[in-house]
Amino acid sequence: MPDLAILDKAVEALIQCHQAHGSLVVLTGAGVSKESGIPTFRDAQTGLWANYKAEDLATREGFLSNPAMVWNWYDFRRNTVWQAQPNLAHQALAQLETLFPAFTLITQNIDNLHQRAGSQTVLELHGNIFRYKCLDHNHPVSLDLLADAEASPPHCPVCNAWVRPDVVWFGEMLPPQVLDRAFSAAQQASVMLIVGTSGVVHPAASLPQLAKEAGATVIEINPEMSALTPFVVDHFLQGPAAAVLPALQSALTLRLGTMEASHA
Ligand code: APR
Repeated sequence: MPDLAILDKAVEALIQCHQAHGSLVVLTGAGVSKESGIPTFRDAQTGLWANYKAEDLATREGFLSNPAMVWNWYDFRRNTVWQAQPNLAHQALAQLETLFPAFTLITQNIDNLHQRAGSQTVLELHGNIFRYKCLDHNHPVSLDLLADAEASPPHCPVCNAWVRPDVVWFGEMLPPQVLDRAFSAAQQASVMLIVGTSGVVHPAASLPQLAKEAGATVIEINPEMSALTPFVVDHFLQGPAAAVLPALQSALTLRLGTMEASHA
């Protein structure tokens, strides 16, 4: 469990944000899905994929050099995610959203678990593993078309190009509208909560710095320090997200409840 004195300070920052009708912005990475049984991005690959590095597979070059292999890797990951359940961390974030009218959840994850947990305002910086498009023209391709496709990867029904996951591969641009919304949310944040990211991949990793420079209080939840901790984090809550986030959310709800009661 995190240091209780630091948890108190983090709750205090959230109370001030709530009372001032400020904006709470959350940035999540693969660590928030760890307790759903999904390996983080930099966990070593296992089983069939043990000899491959995610960084090599999640690239346009990797796909072009072996489309079937990369397609099968995403198929494997999609099935893993499909069987997973949102964990207590995802649920706590969906609860937090109900307490803050100005709330934005920015995720680097492609697993759709925030949406399945009930989060409403989710900015997916790196796409979504359940969305597909064609390689040449980004024609959206529905998942059920893929159900009975023979070839893997299947071909786009519009232009016959290969179909690929609608995720951001290394070296590719992030979706500009999503990124703009993420940057402006970070710059207007009163509090930024960072959960389960190593903070090594940009531009996502630059969002906390942006928030900090705009005057936000930065809280981080991670079992270990990230690349961001020493530079932008005000309150570091050390521990797994599925334990720390519910503790933070319930401490906040309790405090807000007693404050309301005392004003009644
Ligand atoms: N709770 C919270 N955080 C955890 C937990 C947990 N139970 N377990 C591990 N972590 C932390 C790790 O300490 C690490 O800091 O989650 C982080 C996972 O880091 P990465 O594997 O680098 O994942 P992420 O930061 O999301 O990667 C960012 O890089 O490769 C790209 O597109 C990919 O979206 C990914 C991006």
